[in-house]
Amino acid sequence: MRFLFITLFPEQIEQAVSHSIIKRGIDKGLIEVSCINPREFTTDKHRTVDDTPFGGGAGMVLKPEPMVAAIRKAKEQLPDGRVIAMCPGGRTLKQSIVEEYAHSGQDLIFVCGHYEGFDERIFNWVDEKLSIGDYVLTGGEMPALIIMDAVSRFIPGVLGKLASAEEDSFSTGMLEYPQYTRPVDFEGLVVPEVLRNGNHALINRWRRKKSLKATYILRPDLLSQEVLDAIHGKVPRDMKKDEKKFYAEVREELAQEALEAQEDNEGE
Ligand SMILES: C[S@@+](CC[C@H](N)C(=O)[O-])C[C@H]1O[C@@H](n2cnc3c(N)ncnc32)[C@H](O)[C@@H]1O
Repeated sequence: MRFLFITLFPEQIEQAVSHSIIKRGIDKGLIEVSCINPREFTTDKHRTVDDTPFGGGAGMVLKPEPMVAAIRKAKEQLPDGRVIAMCPGGRTLKQSIVEEYAHSGQDLIFVCGHYEGFDERIFNWVDEKLSIGDYVLTGGEMPALIIMDAVSRFIPGVLGKLASAEEDSFSTGMLEYPQYTRPVDFEGLVVPEVLRNGNHALINRWRRKKSLKATYILRPDLLSQEVLDAIHGKVPRDMKKDEKKFYAEVREELAQEALEAQEDNEGE
């Protein structure tokens, strides 16, 4: 998959992709990264890419001519590439968007803003505006790198096991269960016995329960109404006996943990 960054600071991109998993993906030919600098398309002696905003106001705005020339050049190189402008006001990045990009296999062209952002007319050459969250950074390079990183994890061969991306938080619709490695006992904190006994049915059940409970407590918005109902004891009649038992255990454990938390708070 090819990722092209339109950026005034290509060295920031080159630096970021020269390590670890992304670098290995590039070395294996699974990922291709390139940059186009809009400054190359300026015609004045100062190579101006920004100007003051019409109507007044703080900061500088990226001029349309060099930005659009850079997008046109990018489209020559990646004719089917999806042009994504990095904007705090765009659609907010989520794992489902990451997977949508990864599974489409479409090359991605990131348009990175800087200063006060883009002249509005630039968006006529853009397929989509994307934000990485409700906060404002100095430039679009880090947001674009974050998207590339998240998408790359789904490209077969980039991770040791693709399953690790598919089993991560959000991809399963739930937060991940707790993970442990050696030693078994670290300063008195012992790895749960169930993970060490080799019974995979029990391990999967334990993990599913931990995921569900963590998601319920921290991100209930990720759970469907059906699952929330089941946790609250409203289980459909045709639910399998073992599933009913599973949800009953989850409910009981959540109630117990809430009680313990309350006792802890009162003790403080
Ligand atoms: C300082 S910001 C401009 C903010 C702009 N004036 C506004 O209020 O929306 C400069 C550039 O950083 C990038 N940027 C900043 N925060 C971002 C975010 N949360 N998601 C995506 N891109 C962001 C965008 O490319 C933006 O054009």
